[in-house]
Amino acid sequence: MKPRRTVPAGPGWLRALSAKPLRTRRLVLRPPRRGDDRLVYPAVRESMKDLAPWLVWATDAYDEKACRAYVRNAMRDYAAGRGFALFMFAHDGAFVGGTGLHVRGASARYYEIGYWCRSSMAGRGYATEAVKALLRLAFASPDVSRIEIRCDPRNHASERVIRKCGLKLEGRLRKIVRHHDGRLCDHLVFAKVRRARA
Ligand SMILES: CC(C)(COP(=O)(O)OP(=O)(O)OC[C@H]1O[C@@H](n2cnc3c(N)ncnc32)[C@H](O)[C@@H]1OP(=O)(O)O)[C@@H](O)C(=O)NCCC(=O)NCCS
Repeated sequence: MKPRRTVPAGPGWLRALSAKPLRTRRLVLRPPRRGDDRLVYPAVRESMKDLAPWLVWATDAYDEKACRAYVRNAMRDYAAGRGFALFMFAHDGAFVGGTGLHVRGASARYYEIGYWCRSSMAGRGYATEAVKALLRLAFASPDVSRIEIRCDPRNHASERVIRKCGLKLEGRLRKIVRHHDGRLCDHLVFAKVRRARA
């Protein structure tokens, strides 16, 4: 009997990134692959001080095993069309950080972009370059009408990235996220939507 071929799920413009990563002026964005934990883990550890205030998964419990599990699950989710994690690399192959699109919405599907940049490479415009490229890619597909990014109102670097990418502030969700230290935090919601045709 012929082995059954699994058809990758998810929209074509995201599936395509497995075969052909997204190239920007200075970056390459591609889905997670087996073994990526060896690159991701040291970058996260190096950056813990900057990540921990904003990312719920960046805690002392984040160890090599957790990182391996994250990469494995992210690969599985990508193949199943449940979520589209991407890793950012410089053109010389250096690991820069993580980004990706979370699938949101019920009757109207939309995407939320998330990102982090390793501390040693922060402040060079990489996150902005990655988000702009993802917005261009997403809105080139006629099926995409809305891309959202959320950030803590105190996360000025992230808010700056969002504003540089041209998303508009839609509102503030109060006490919407529980931080790992127990605090309930607000989030600002920004979005870019496809312009209605005249
Ligand atoms: C947010 C983050 C991804 C930005 O990555 P980056 O590659 O440094 O971003 P960029 O260089 O594209 O842009 C950062 C902007 O924030 C500004 N910035 C940095 N720290 C800042 C601060 N404390 N206050 C105000 N602005 C700040 C930079 O000056 C730059 O703006 P500019 O181009 O106008 O000078 C990175 O800081 C990070 O990983 N933070 C921790 C994780 C996180 O917060 N993720 C997002 C969750 S919503």
